Order: sequence, then structure tokens, then C-alpha cells
Amino acid sequence: MHPRKLTSIVTLLIVLLLIGCSKQPAPTTPPPAQTGQSTNTPATNVANGASAAKTEVTGATLYTTNCSGCHGVTGAGASGPAINTDEWKNNSSKVQGVVKKGQGTMPAFTGKLNDTQIKAIGDFVASLKK
Ligand code: HEC
Repeated sequence: MHPRKLTSIVTLLIVLLLIGCSKQPAPTTPPPAQTGQSTNTPATNVANGASAAKTEVTGATLYTTNCSGCHGVTGAGASGPAINTDEWKNNSSKVQGVVKKGQGTMPAFTGKLNDTQIKAIGDFVASLKK
């Protein structure tokens, strides 16, 4: 084999390598931009739909987040007393009073939750069954 031929083959390989390397970054750049756009739009739509349609679930969700740790998921009591009893059943406003002011070692929720949220929790607790 002539040294010149070898040189031209090596040159060709180097050129092919350079083309191969320079082509790689191009396809990887666009996908992240597209992913960002496609996740933004549906997420916003879901959030709007949820806040409009799931008002009934809010009391249960707020109770689970703020109260179930001390009163149990079903209101049967844990470190706090049972509140699924006749005393609180169908008496949302009485429950709301305790939640707003707190009682004993139970913290007051005024300032942490707004009136709409506290009413939703009161309605939920008043609907609990033993
Ligand atoms: C950090 C624990 C804790 C959290 C959180 C908590 N409570 Fe309480 N709760 C208590 C304790 C303890 C008592 C009993 C206080 C006392 O009478 O000394 C109590 C009392 C009550 C009472 C009156 C029960 C009775 O028989 O006198 C109601 C109703 C009540 N809580 C509802 C709620 C609701 C609704 C939430 C959520 C917004 C909540 N609590 C969050 C600990 C908690």
C-alpha cells in the first residue's frame, strides 16, 4: 500500500469522525424545549379543573392534612380525642369554633386556614360516622 493512499484513508476517517461528532449535538437540543412546553399546558388545565370541580372533596382533604394526625383519619381519635361522636355530628359551626380558637393543647387554625377552609373542615367533621 502506498503511503499516500494510507494518508487519504486516514484523512477520510478523520473527516467522517468529525462529521459524526458534529451531527450528534443537533438532535439532542430540541427535545427538552418541547417537553417543557407540553407539560406546562396540561398541568395548568388540570389545576383549574380540579379547583372548580372538587369543592366537595376539599373538606376531607383539608381534614386529612391538618387534623387526621391527632384525631385519626376517621375521627376516631389518636393523640387527640374522638370527634366522630354525637357531640360533633351535624354541628359544623361548633367544630369550626374549636378549629378557629384551638382547645387545650390543640392549636388554633385562624391565620393558617381561611374561613372557607375551616367551614369545609367543620362540614366534613360533622358528617363523620362512627
Ligand atoms: C396537634 C394535635 C391536634 C391537631 C393538629 C388538631 N387537634 Fe383537635 N384536638 C386536639 C386535642 C389534644 C384536643 C383536646 C383538647 C382539650 O380539650 O384539652 C382536641 C380537641 C378537638 C375538638 C373538641 C373535642 C372534644 O371532645 O372536646 C375538636 C372538634 C377538634 N379537636 C377538631 C379538630 C379539627 C377539625 C382539626 C383540624 C383542623 C384538629 N382538631 C386538629 C389535638 C389536635
